[in-house]
Amino acid sequence: MSVFLDNAATSFPKPEAVYRAMDSMMREVGVAPGRGSYSQAIAAARLVFDARRALAAFFGVADSSRLVFTHSATESLNLAVSGLLKPGDHVVSTSMEHNALLRPLLLARSRGVEVSFVAAGRNGVVSAADVAAALRPTTRLVALAHASNVTGTVQPVAEIAREAKRCGALVLVDAAQTAGYLPIDVAELGIDLLAAPGHKGLFGPPGTGILAVAPGVDLDPLVVGGTGGNSGSGEQPTEMPERYESGTINTPGIAGLGAGVEFVRQTGIEAIRKKSGELTGQLLEGMRGIAGLQLYGTDAPERVGVISFTMEGKDPAIIGFQLDRSYDIAVRVGLQCAPDVHKTIGTYPAGTIRVSPGFFNTPEDIEHFLKALREL
Ligand SMILES: Cc1ncc(COP(=O)(O)O)c(C=O)c1O
Repeated sequence: MSVFLDNAATSFPKPEAVYRAMDSMMREVGVAPGRGSYSQAIAAARLVFDARRALAAFFGVADSSRLVFTHSATESLNLAVSGLLKPGDHVVSTSMEHNALLRPLLLARSRGVEVSFVAAGRNGVVSAADVAAALRPTTRLVALAHASNVTGTVQPVAEIAREAKRCGALVLVDAAQTAGYLPIDVAELGIDLLAAPGHKGLFGPPGTGILAVAPGVDLDPLVVGGTGGNSGSGEQPTEMPERYESGTINTPGIAGLGAGVEFVRQTGIEAIRKKSGELTGQLLEGMRGIAGLQLYGTDAPERVGVISFTMEGKDPAIIGFQLDRSYDIAVRVGLQCAPDVHKTIGTYPAGTIRVSPGFFNTPEDIEHFLKALREL
């Protein structure tokens, strides 16, 4: 029995409709959008337009042209951070960030941007009051993950955004662990820049991501080049989304992502959340009964289906190896690209074992995992 419990890295498997959409995009359309006026190119452009509109509607982005396709949440975060910040600007972030946001912020710091990291509590929750206390007149951006990829802890984003707005700062949210799992409406939550992967909770393939950019926010592009139009000009276009989508875009990936978000819409976030809550509940209950097993961040008021734990006297890397080799179970071990999170929860440098069920896991999968843990 093969069990995939690393959905926080990427969701697997994908809904059938995603495989079908990618296959037909490759076979029946198979060309770049916006690069010709022949009917095949128009069909490709239509498909990308439909996927963009579906994703914009899903996140409450009123103008779909302001939803940009990228290759990953990492690229989206790089575009937001390096496109917005100038030397002398100040950013507030947190101790709960993945390297996808942390490293762009540290790079910005090396180029003259000031960065403050607000420490989360031991349970992984960041307080809005602590963020408010770190704000300055020069704060241009508050940037944070919606939920931790280590503990699953959900941050009070709406409250933090209200504080940021009070001092005129923009809000960048890394929704890598929440897009497709929790309802996200950019206007309701006060998000100016929403970065998300396409390949986790939205069920698109690896190599897909999005960045939603609020009206009035202009970013320097990360990549410039051919956009299919206005070819006579040496200037990068100012029009959205072309400004940020140079080069031939990942049309098979976007076709898959469009089908993925449609699957989420049809299934319903509430049903997805309920399933995730049941599997996570089964995991937590089973794990609490295992002597010597320590769980992290479980007293946070809100969480997604990502659980980190350690086993007394055992190296997480060895447990991960044994789960794979002896039980055919895939989990992620170590620092999960988030060293500061482990410093916050007290598991640096060995890290934890992270288990993250997905929509297609069953209670039998979870039981297989719990049985393996008991044996180990
Ligand atoms: C919180 C968080 N941010 C960003 C990322 C990066 O996502 P991507 O692989 O799409 O670049 C991840 C992926 O693991 C993540 O968990």
